[in-house]
Amino acid sequence: MSRLSQAKVPEHVAIIMDGNGRWAQGQGKARVYGHQSGAQRVRDVVEAAGKAGVKVLTLYAFSEENWRRPVDEVNALFSLLVSYLKQEIDQLHENKVRLRSIGFTDKLPDDCQEWLKLVEAKTRDNDGLQLVLALSYSGRSDLVRAMQKIAAAVQEGRLQPDAIGEQVISENLSTQGLPEPDLLIRTSGEQRLSNFLLWEMAYTEFYFTKVHWPEFSREHLTEALREYADRDRRFGAVRMDKPVC
Ligand code: FPP
Repeated sequence: MSRLSQAKVPEHVAIIMDGNGRWAQGQGKARVYGHQSGAQRVRDVVEAAGKAGVKVLTLYAFSEENWRRPVDEVNALFSLLVSYLKQEIDQLHENKVRLRSIGFTDKLPDDCQEWLKLVEAKTRDNDGLQLVLALSYSGRSDLVRAMQKIAAAVQEGRLQPDAIGEQVISENLSTQGLPEPDLLIRTSGEQRLSNFLLWEMAYTEFYFTKVHWPEFSREHLTEALREYADRDRRFGAVRMDKPVC
């Protein structure tokens, strides 16, 4: 990838990896085949994002709503996740990647939880790309849980109601301590948030592509980063280098 100025590389990229099922069905194959191919793209994109200088990459791997899928598909997804963690643990560590998970991960199968804990512990002190896997994640449920924690703190006298501000809310979300996403990429032509990082994406730039996730290559990532580099982010303000009327 030809180099983008580091100043224009998004610090945090979030991705909705959509289109696995449709891609597989379009080839007359089972949906699970699409997820298998999608897992390969995770390997490529993690490596490419780290090389490009992205600091945090958050992947929407399984939403709370995804529990409504057929049990065979859900099992296949978690078994793919365990395979990914088993196969990648050494490579991730060697590449200085730090793994973190967000979401209601206590609902995941035991082996998944164990492997997540293992990889998180092994990579805890790494200072390269932070890879965040959103698992059994729901933006609204994360906000509800944060509100419950804040209400309990008020009830117990540890927090005054007028001390509740944006920072207190952010600190009680599962994304606590992470920068807000600068760029959201969603593959496969859908243009919606699907309950992903609702609070955190107030000022995120959106990039939608028709490419299905199993075909999303390093070059497609580069293209998204290039488009981001050309965007003019004003955060509700006006540019002071242009005349203001
Ligand atoms: C959405 O495609 C994708 C998912 C619900 C799962 C994403 C999982 C992977 C890419 C593989 C495993 C993950 C890791 C981190 C190793 P969809 O099935 O909703 O596609 P459709 O809209 O075409 O049906």
